[in-house]
Amino acid sequence: MSPIKINPTVFPRIRKPIASTPIDSTNAATKAILVKGVEMVFHSGKQSYQVLKGIDWEIPNGSIQLLMGPSGSGKTTLLSILAGLLTPTVGRVYLLGQEITSMSRSTLAQFRLQNIGFIFQGFNLFPALTASENIEVVLNIKGVPKRFAQNQAQMLLEQVGLGDKANQKPSDLSGGQKQRVAIARALAGNPPLILADEPTAALDSQSGHTVTDLLRKLAKEQGCTVLIVTHDPRVIDVADRVAYIEDGVLKQNS
Ligand SMILES: Nc1ncnc2c1ncn2[C@@H]1O[C@H](COP(=O)(O)OP(=O)(O)O)[C@@H](O)[C@H]1O
Ligand SMILES: [Mg+2]
Repeated sequence: MSPIKINPTVFPRIRKPIASTPIDSTNAATKAILVKGVEMVFHSGKQSYQVLKGIDWEIPNGSIQLLMGPSGSGKTTLLSILAGLLTPTVGRVYLLGQEITSMSRSTLAQFRLQNIGFIFQGFNLFPALTASENIEVVLNIKGVPKRFAQNQAQMLLEQVGLGDKANQKPSDLSGGQKQRVAIARALAGNPPLILADEPTAALDSQSGHTVTDLLRKLAKEQGCTVLIVTHDPRVIDVADRVAYIEDGVLKQNS
């Protein structure tokens, strides 16, 4: 996307997000993700780039939602806002009925820890830790005592078909196996929301399918809502719903 130059007097630097419309709180409570009037403007020197242009979006509880769009269309920016890692210039985001755009930093960090599992394109496993330890670390941070964490990690690895790889380091695993460890880690502690940014981008077609089929199966079993950002059309068949973003404008197609 070629960034669009905008007039900074129209989009001033705003630190606090501003609500564009009043929110029906009942509607927010029935959606896993509710986005209202989200805009994102990045500033670079004297220039401003509007990357998201008024996103309104609802993702129902328990669905597998895909967000597709060309490179540079704003997918990662939107996902980072939904994850509470970026604050939108304008607009509100509700996750599980709670407005994250008005939470303090520490409340948001706690909310994220308890409610969101992340899966990244590059797996983001700790290279010095075994598959089991990569999961145990997350369970420990979530407050699971060490003696239980090891058993839970083993169970999660069995769920993703890697029960015999618990003591292997990431360097001993294939790309598909690493992403399955990352899925097990994202599911640790049973968070209601899973956010995945291009989870198949580093995988071949076969492993990509295995990983996304598994993610769908486990998410349905655990009742999670999953948002997968991808530009990989081969992932479409795992989704309940597909949305498209282009130049910062969202189209919910199905
Ligand atoms: N922190 C930033 N500062 C300035 N521009 C950014 C920043 N992050 C992303 N962008 C720009 O926003 C646009 C969308 O980026 P991104 O959300 O990463 O797209 P996608 O994930 O769809 O490839 C790109 O033009 C990118 O250069
Ligand atoms: Mg991206």
